[in-house]
Amino acid sequence: MPVFGEGPRDSSVLFVGEGPGAEEDLSGRPFVGRSGRFLSQLMEEAGVPRESVFISNVVRCRPPGNRDPKPAEVAACLPWLERLIDLLKPEVVVTVGNVPSRLLLDTKVGITSLRGEFHRCRFAERELTVRPIFHPSYLLRNRSRERGKPLSLTLDDLRALSPWLAGGIP
Ligand code: URA
Repeated sequence: MPVFGEGPRDSSVLFVGEGPGAEEDLSGRPFVGRSGRFLSQLMEEAGVPRESVFISNVVRCRPPGNRDPKPAEVAACLPWLERLIDLLKPEVVVTVGNVPSRLLLDTKVGITSLRGEFHRCRFAERELTVRPIFHPSYLLRNRSRERGKPLSLTLDDLRALSPWLAGGIP
């Protein structure tokens, strides 16, 4: 079934993933499968409770076999994402993985270079602040907690959101 997103409408933080996987497809909820549960766990650890942010995806329907969404699928779903951003007016958009990061930042640069900072961009006729993070499915394959490794870097990225959750803009 289509997955539109969930979370408090007044949250200042919007997470945007790639698209629903098998469990999201069955439940109609974003980020509830294995990688979603791992992301929720990391968010909790970083002091960004999942319930405090709105979570959605670039595409509404599950790409078969969990492949990346095709450009035509992204284009077909774009109006939903644009409208969501219009309604929520998020202060920060966290793009989870390459697909949403490249889409919002209009770049071919990869997530390893994009993560670690706030980017300003124009999307859906709005000025947005975007914080790209590694996709949790990548982190599930790279679980070392050593400093400087993807998991520890992602916790740093998530912790950087806390000023927005506390209600202020740093
Ligand atoms: N679940 C989602 O809803 N989106 C992703 O990108 C991955 C898992």
